[in-house]
Amino acid sequence: MTERFKALLLHQGDDGRTLCEERVLSAGDLMEGDVDVAVEATTVNYKDGLAITGRSPVVRRWPMIPGVDLAGTVKASRSPLWREGDRVVLNGWGLGETHYGAYAGLARVRAEWLVALPDRFSFRDAMGIGTAGYTAMLAVLALERFGLSPDQGPALVTGAAGGVGSVSVALLSRLGWHVVASTGRPAEAGWLRELGAAEIVDRAELAAPSKPLARERWAAGIDSVGGATLASALAATRRHGAIAACGLAGGMDLPTSVAPFILRGVALLGVDSVMAPKALREEAWRRLAADLDAEALRRIEVPIGFADIVVTAGAILDGRVRGRVVVTDVAQATRV
Ligand SMILES: NC(=O)c1ccc[n+]([C@@H]2O[C@H](COP(=O)([O-])OP(=O)(O)OC[C@H]3O[C@@H](n4cnc5c(N)ncnc54)[C@H](OP(=O)(O)O)[C@@H]3O)[C@@H](O)[C@H]2O)c1
Repeated sequence: MTERFKALLLHQGDDGRTLCEERVLSAGDLMEGDVDVAVEATTVNYKDGLAITGRSPVVRRWPMIPGVDLAGTVKASRSPLWREGDRVVLNGWGLGETHYGAYAGLARVRAEWLVALPDRFSFRDAMGIGTAGYTAMLAVLALERFGLSPDQGPALVTGAAGGVGSVSVALLSRLGWHVVASTGRPAEAGWLRELGAAEIVDRAELAAPSKPLARERWAAGIDSVGGATLASALAATRRHGAIAACGLAGGMDLPTSVAPFILRGVALLGVDSVMAPKALREEAWRRLAADLDAEALRRIEVPIGFADIVVTAGAILDGRVRGRVVVTDVAQATRV
């Protein structure tokens, strides 16, 4: 195939710094895969911010096309699983880390990584959800699998104004939970209430070191912050409740004790979206189609252009992005 398209390419400079430049590539430059997908929309996740700025060693093969999420149309398939014209979504599986990712006109990927995009969602919707929203759904599924339901008490969401957080607020509220949203951005309280938050907590309250056990406040939680915030969330979880841990926006450590686990039977549920098996991904996307309110999704999405990806990468790490950015013009912007 001789088709040419633009792509963002990350390199490692001599001083170890990550450099990002736009290149014109052809299909033959792509890595191995049995399905070619014309990328229609993508997004900028926290992890994409880490990759593009080089702030964490997300990229494990150089050079690399970043972008962990894409939605698009199958252009060519050498697999019986997909046909030309199928609408697909891909989250994770090492995209943008070990395999060329989404910030290009064309992606060549493995057939089993793709999920059929539910009819309800446009490409833009799919990336308004993206890895962050699909992870929020995985966290909801983990809490449900553990046996929790809204009648057992409130649900805490930390990092509520971020991607995982905002979709979690919308999903939990739609499912009937009384949602306690923790944010460091008081100016977003009104927006979080529109998404379904019933209470707003200042994130400084949870970021402060907590006692091993605190007053029982919530039955469930979705945490994208980690560190002292996750420790505080666990300490204030009701007997036999659970917190689903998704992220580390506030730190990688976990300064807690065994007290919540052995004295209250609290559980810490791990969520890994990157290598989640296909059946679980399909369940998550089915449930997103059923349970994510269209109006909430519209409120969460922030459209940006392909040319804005690099600047947005810095902004998301600085906590300046609200909700979910969607890169809506990939097809046009990558045309040569
Ligand atoms: N496990 C998985 O598979 C998986 C999947 C997706 C994402 N993640 C991880 O989940 C986290 C969130 O991802 P995202 O895409 O939702 O990022 P995001 O949009 O940047 O949201 C993160 C939010 O965390 C809060 N925050 C940021 N820095 C903080 C700090 N120093 N202390 C306390 N709170 C802080 C902010 O919320 P407020 O402004 O509301 O306080 C921010 O909006 C990241 O660590 C990401 O790597 C993991």
